[in-house]
Amino acid sequence: MQVAELLKKDLRERFKTLYEKAMRYREMVRKAMFDVLSESDSVLFKAARHLIEAGGKLVRPVLFLLACEFVGGDPEKLVLAAAGAEFGHVASLIHDDIIDEDEVRRGVPAVHVKFGTPIAILAGDLLIFKAFQMLALTADRGVPLDRIVRALKISTESSVAVDEGEAMDVLMGSRVDVGLSEYFRMIELKTAEAFRVGLMLGALLGGGSEEEMEALSRYGLLIGIAFQIQDDILGVFGSEEVVGKPVADVLKGRRNFLIVHALEKGPKHVRERLLELLGDPGDISKEELEEIRAMLVEAGSLDEARRLVEELTEEAKRTIEGLGRPEARKALMEMADFLKTRVY
Ligand code: IPE
Ligand code: IPE
Ligand code: MG
Repeated sequence: MQVAELLKKDLRERFKTLYEKAMRYREMVRKAMFDVLSESDSVLFKAARHLIEAGGKLVRPVLFLLACEFVGGDPEKLVLAAAGAEFGHVASLIHDDIIDEDEVRRGVPAVHVKFGTPIAILAGDLLIFKAFQMLALTADRGVPLDRIVRALKISTESSVAVDEGEAMDVLMGSRVDVGLSEYFRMIELKTAEAFRVGLMLGALLGGGSEEEMEALSRYGLLIGIAFQIQDDILGVFGSEEVVGKPVADVLKGRRNFLIVHALEKGPKHVRERLLELLGDPGDISKEELEEIRAMLVEAGSLDEARRLVEELTEEAKRTIEGLGRPEARKALMEMADFLKTRVY
């Protein structure tokens, strides 16, 4: 089943408030993205459209617009900026797949596989340039200039932080001595930062108070960390067909919460056997992969990951309690619950 259909079904059945809002915002954002990207039929623009045509959950722009609604702003005015946030995300996916040498994304060939690495690099760049242009263009919809300038400052700083996170991940190579604290620093930058800042900008541009911006920023950081841990669970125990990208964290020797946790906290025999197997991740057989999965369960790493996702989600929900517009707050609460149980 396509991600869009899965999402629709999940949200409709379990989260009524979020469903109605997310479907509307997704449509608005998709239209804005295609408007911007249909300006040319060049190969470069085709490459930039490739993953956007393939789908994606569009979690970040939906959060952006929910934050705007939460503070009483008008989401219609911020659609371009929210679409820009998704462009930044898609650019990071395109570049990340080149870096990670992954060939499938959103259930289709990665951009560098379909268009070649040079065009993929340029398509990612194009999306980043457009993202900032779209933030500037919100001025045409009547968003005050001082807010836009502050948003530009925050988003450029934040993009550098995400870049640092991705670089940290790369520089860790296939090191097996990465500890949990180093891992958390890396995912806060690589993943949670984009959630945090998207929510903060939605609030800022929507005219929210400092208190609301602060609360949403914290909510974003917490669900962002939970999101990456959930992604790590899916990166070992997920189904490739449903996730839409390779389930290969172990085989590619990647930092993954489960592995880092087992190597730091697992019983001695698990640590030793894991080190032996991960010494040459490319050589891990199907049977050995099953053995690793069983060890991650035995070491309590899977349970600990689930417990953390649960705890971070509840804490995120508490940070926005009693604040903002009730309907948007309810949708954000539902979003936190949806993300912790997602399987794609
Ligand atoms: C994938 O993000 C990258 C991570 C931070 C783990 P998503 O899971 O939001 O991917 P799409 O946008 O739905 O494809
Ligand atoms: C996600 O990195 C990309 C960014 C957040 C920059 P990962 O390598 O951890 O995520 P997937 O598994 O490829 O989506
Ligand atoms: Mg990757």
